[in-house]
Amino acid sequence: MRADAGQILELVNPYAAQGLMLPRTLDQIASRIDSYVVAADAGGRVIACAALEEYSPSLAEVSSVAVAPAHHGNGLGTQVVLGVERVARSRDIEELFALSLTDQFFLSLSYKPTTISRYPEKLARYDALSRSGVDIVPKRCFQKTLGKEWNPPRLVSRRRARGA
Ligand SMILES: CC(C)(COP(=O)(O)OP(=O)(O)OC[C@H]1O[C@@H](n2cnc3c(N)ncnc32)[C@H](O)[C@@H]1OP(=O)(O)O)[C@@H](O)C(=O)NCCC(=O)NCCS
Repeated sequence: MRADAGQILELVNPYAAQGLMLPRTLDQIASRIDSYVVAADAGGRVIACAALEEYSPSLAEVSSVAVAPAHHGNGLGTQVVLGVERVARSRDIEELFALSLTDQFFLSLSYKPTTISRYPEKLARYDALSRSGVDIVPKRCFQKTLGKEWNPPRLVSRRRARGA
């Protein structure tokens, strides 16, 4: 767990330094490790991550989406966001939002452009961070309403279908 948190930190913080996402501390990551989804290479090294950040019982943000530069364009970003969506569904979250400068990434995952003013909880958090000296780079906001996961129909066995 702790090792994973360290590797997530190494993945996220160089992007945070570029203003692409918010910086995290090791303790912040470790205390919320159950909300992170990661992908690892064959050696077990974390090369992609994303996190679910809950704001209310029905609303959460997909945050800290990061893929190691050498692995961009291989679908790993998509995989970790889909993993976060699965975690969200398992927690009965109905709506997700995300902030990003890479519009096409969230559009490709069926998120819709929206305005951040729809999420006063996030604006309040930005205000607090800003007051504590963190630089907030304005990003575009995307939203997705989670439907119930599709379950395959139960197959009727041939014997029952024949009325046996
Ligand atoms: C954005 C990021 C997470 C994408 O990860 P990835 O694994 O390369 O993305 P995927 O391979 O799953 O791409 C899925 C789709 O997103 C879009 N996409 C991904 N990166 C893109 C980019 N840099 N510019 C434009 N579109 C992009 C494409 O439509 C792509 O589909 P395609 O490959 O069929 O064209 C990754 O580039 C990254 O870590 N960026 C730096 C951190 C960041 O900006 N995170 C987002 C903030 S939440």
